[in-house]
Amino acid sequence: MNSPDPDSVRATFTRVAHRYDLANHLLSGGIDYFWRKKLVTLANQEPSTQILDLATGSGDVVFALQKELFTKTKITGLDFCEPMLVEARKKRELLKLNAEQFPFKEGDCLDIPFSDNLFDLVTISFGLRNLADRKRGLSEIFRVLKPGGRIVVLEFSQPYWWFRPFYYFYLRLILPWVARLVTGDRDAYLYLGTSISNFPNRSQLSKELEHVGFKKVVANALTFSIVSLHHGYKA
Ligand SMILES: C[S@@+](CC[C@H](N)C(=O)[O-])C[C@H]1O[C@@H](n2cnc3c(N)ncnc32)[C@H](O)[C@@H]1O
Repeated sequence: MNSPDPDSVRATFTRVAHRYDLANHLLSGGIDYFWRKKLVTLANQEPSTQILDLATGSGDVVFALQKELFTKTKITGLDFCEPMLVEARKKRELLKLNAEQFPFKEGDCLDIPFSDNLFDLVTISFGLRNLADRKRGLSEIFRVLKPGGRIVVLEFSQPYWWFRPFYYFYLRLILPWVARLVTGDRDAYLYLGTSISNFPNRSQLSKELEHVGFKKVVANALTFSIVSLHHGYKA
């Protein structure tokens, strides 16, 4: 399997940053709101005072979490693509949120710029698939979590077999053209299809989480298993 090249991933998100949100909502038919809501519900099952949202992009997970969680919770968004962070900061301003409580920081998920045992919760939504070295990314998440802290991963998965033909037809033939209309960039969304088909299924990803040390790993399938939500603990 080819690992994503970090420079081309960054270049891709730089090109689509200004239209990323619109493309996301249109291409998913708005279902991304529902997926994020599920992530927030899972995150909310236990209190957290320090949260890190990795590969935060335009920050939608941070904003969804912020609406529901304990008022003093600090939520930091980290991404290595500055133009995506610019979009996140614009939204933070529109929502009149405090930059100290909701900082957006440039940094690499493969070398997280925080010390060990710092966060109660690390979330990563549609980011893990883009990492050049998934094992290293997961080990880094494990490192920055406090003992007893949790990881929540929202990511594309392998759909149920009977849904696969419809899904891949959409992904390979329809989505890139619609994406081109919205973002002007068809290639970025061709990459999306390839990266999804190369990504492990639910049980394989659960094993990868366990492999780096996560315990009590649970995976839930959403929307015919197009997407999965993984949850685990640093013991
Ligand atoms: C598909 S977007 C997801 C954005 C957001 N989490 C969401 O759910 O909409 C993937 C993001 O991962 C970021 N990314 C990819 N590899 C990264 C890395 N190694 N370190 C930091 N960010 C990375 C990209 O810049 C991009 O903003």
